[in-house]
Amino acid sequence: MNNDEHGGVRRRDLTVRIDYLADHLEAIPMLAEWHHAAWSSITPHLTVEDRVTGFRLRARRGGVPTGFVAVVQGAVVGLACLVNHDMETRQDLTPWLASVLVAAPHRRHGIGSALSDRVADEAFSQGFSRLYLLTFGRVTFYARLGWHVLEEAHYLGTSGTIMQRDRAGLLAASPRAT
Ligand SMILES: CC(C)(COP(=O)(O)OP(=O)(O)OC[C@H]1O[C@@H](n2cnc3c(N)ncnc32)[C@H](O)[C@@H]1OP(=O)(O)O)[C@@H](O)C(=O)NCCC(=O)NCCS
Repeated sequence: MNNDEHGGVRRRDLTVRIDYLADHLEAIPMLAEWHHAAWSSITPHLTVEDRVTGFRLRARRGGVPTGFVAVVQGAVVGLACLVNHDMETRQDLTPWLASVLVAAPHRRHGIGSALSDRVADEAFSQGFSRLYLLTFGRVTFYARLGWHVLEEAHYLGTSGTIMQRDRAGLLAASPRAT
């Protein structure tokens, strides 16, 4: 990681670029390690190598799946992906925002929001009018970005929440959990 010795970067110095993961293939093993550290308790059946394989499949420039990375001063510091499915039990819903992850020293500078918005923009520009995500405990974060709760879900032994985001301008006539 860059900037660790400085304890992170100040917001006014922070220039974040959102690139295709396809343009940073060298970062995939590192991202797979981060992903494993964040979610191996929920997906213990996946090895780091499995996650590397999955990210390579997402290393495309457009279409589904596509991975995006956040780059700060030349270093990859975050990831978010547009994928066809993120829950084996909800094949009826597509596409999904998945694998939103920002390196700890770079959090709370708007990078996770920028990555999530980039994935939504990609989905909408491809003609999708709605996309979905599964979160374990970050409902408020996504609600601030225009996502709504669709339903609570118990998945892989963990309680989570399925959320949806509609393309701007669509009437919010979709089902909402109460
Ligand atoms: C969730 C995660 C991706 C957020 O990334 P991030 O870069 O910190 O996201 P942002 O900076 O855009 O927003 C995070 C918070 O910081 C706040 N924030 C953003 N810029 C800020 C700033 N300059 N100063 C203070 N706070 C700021 C946001 O309002 C947001 O608050 P909220 O969580 O109460 O809504 C990150 O914490 C992470 O990687 N967590 C581990 C993996 C994970 O849980 N991923 C989500 C899977 S569903």
